[in-house]
Amino acid sequence: MLTEDMGEYLRLYDLWSQWKPEKPEGILIAHASIHGNTAYASEALKSKLERKGAQVTMCDLTATDLSYAVTSAFYCGKLVLACSTYDGGLFPPMKAFLDHLQTKGFRNRRIGLMENGSWAPAAARLMRVELEKMKELRLCETDVSLRGALNQTSEAQMDALVAELCAE
Ligand SMILES: Cc1cc2nc3c(=O)[nH]c(=O)nc-3n(C[C@H](O)[C@H](O)[C@H](O)COP(=O)(O)O)c2cc1C
Repeated sequence: MLTEDMGEYLRLYDLWSQWKPEKPEGILIAHASIHGNTAYASEALKSKLERKGAQVTMCDLTATDLSYAVTSAFYCGKLVLACSTYDGGLFPPMKAFLDHLQTKGFRNRRIGLMENGSWAPAAARLMRVELEKMKELRLCETDVSLRGALNQTSEAQMDALVAELCAE
C-alpha cells in the first residue's frame, strides 16, 4: 500500500495517463545493425548530440530485451531509430521494436531516422510506414542515409539531424 509521497505517484500517473515522457529532453538512440556500421554511426550521433548538451541513452536492439527498449522509449521525449536494410525490409530487431511500440500505444514524441543499405537503402521509408500507425509523432525532416560506413555526405545529414533534435 502507498502511504507516503503521494504527490510523486500522482505526478507520474498524470504523465503516464497523457502519454507524456518523464524526461522530455532525453534522447534514446535505438539501433539495429547487422555488421556494426549503423551501431558505430549511432555512437557518432550520440557524441555530436552530447556536444550540444543533450542527454542521450543508447539501446542496441540486437542485444537488449525489448521490455527495456520499450521502457526507455517511453521515458524519453525524443527517439532516434537507426536500422540496416535487410532483404528489402527492416532488420528484424527493429521491426519487433516498432511492433511493440505500436501495441503499447506509443505516441507524442519527436523522432529522427537513420538508415543503412548497400545497394537500395529502404529502412527509413519502412520505419516511416510503421510510425504512421502511431499517433502524434513529430518526425524530423532530415533522414541520415548510410551506405555502409559514415562518410562526408551522411555526416552532413547527421549534423542537420542533430540541429533538428536539439531545436525542439
Ligand atoms: C542478409 C542481408 C540482406 C541485406 N539486404 C539488403 C537490402 O535489401 N538492401 C540494401 O541496400 N542492403 C542490404 N544489405 C546490406 C546491409 O543493409 C548493409 O550492409 C548494412 O546496412 C550495413 O550496415 P551495418 O553494418 O550496420 O549492418 C543486406 C545485408 C545482409 C547481410
